[in-house]
Amino acid sequence: MRLVDLNEQPDLLREAAAELLVESFRGLAPRAWPDLPAAREEVGQALAPDKIARAALNAEGTLLGWIGGIPQYGGKVWELHPLVVAPAHQRRGIGRALVADLEARAAARGGLTLWAGSDDETGLTSLAGADLYPEVWRHIRDLRDLRGHPFRFYEKCGFVVAGLMPDANGLGKPDIYLAKRITQ
Ligand SMILES: CC(C)(COP(=O)(O)OP(=O)(O)OC[C@H]1O[C@@H](n2cnc3c(N)ncnc32)[C@H](O)[C@@H]1OP(=O)(O)O)[C@@H](O)C(=O)NCCC(=O)NCCS
Repeated sequence: MRLVDLNEQPDLLREAAAELLVESFRGLAPRAWPDLPAAREEVGQALAPDKIARAALNAEGTLLGWIGGIPQYGGKVWELHPLVVAPAHQRRGIGRALVADLEARAAARGGLTLWAGSDDETGLTSLAGADLYPEVWRHIRDLRDLRGHPFRFYEKCGFVVAGLMPDANGLGKPDIYLAKRITQ
């Protein structure tokens, strides 16, 4: 596997990046990229010069996954968005490698914090269907994975749950905010 700038790849690979978003988020967050036009727009935005977009390719040049980074707070904070690994290649360390690569690049540009939002739209965690008010922190403390929600992946990469956005995707469907210090 090698990691490359998505910006420097041919159109075919960028199209594959859009297809991967639609395919991989279908069961997880159906509202995220419901179709190819929406996913193509996301890829286009990720390629803006102030952002970071990195792709994992295999020896044949096939796209295995990709990650985006968006500068915020004058570049001190970077949002990890999006992150996707092809279903057939998950659980082989590709996601972790993409995150580590983005961390290093965001830190080199002055980033102190990397964060990601990870929705629970499909009842994968203890937050599903719960009224998170008024003591939101209690739900963070007691957060449990029920059916393979990616927040566990982020924890394995050193992130902590830094907040919740109640009802972000409808009543009882929150967004989970994860953050990590990336200074070297
Ligand atoms: C989440 C995702 C990016 C992880 O990528 P990946 O290449 O499969 O992850 P890795 O193989 O690098 O995993 C790193 C560690 O996290 C663990 N992990 C990965 N996904 C996990 C999950 N859903 N639940 C629990 N643990 C998980 C791995 O087992 C591994 O643990 P280990 O170090 O103890 O062996 C990938 O599953 C994916 O693209 N999913 C669909 C889209 C998505 O959820 N994107 C992120 C949403 S915000």
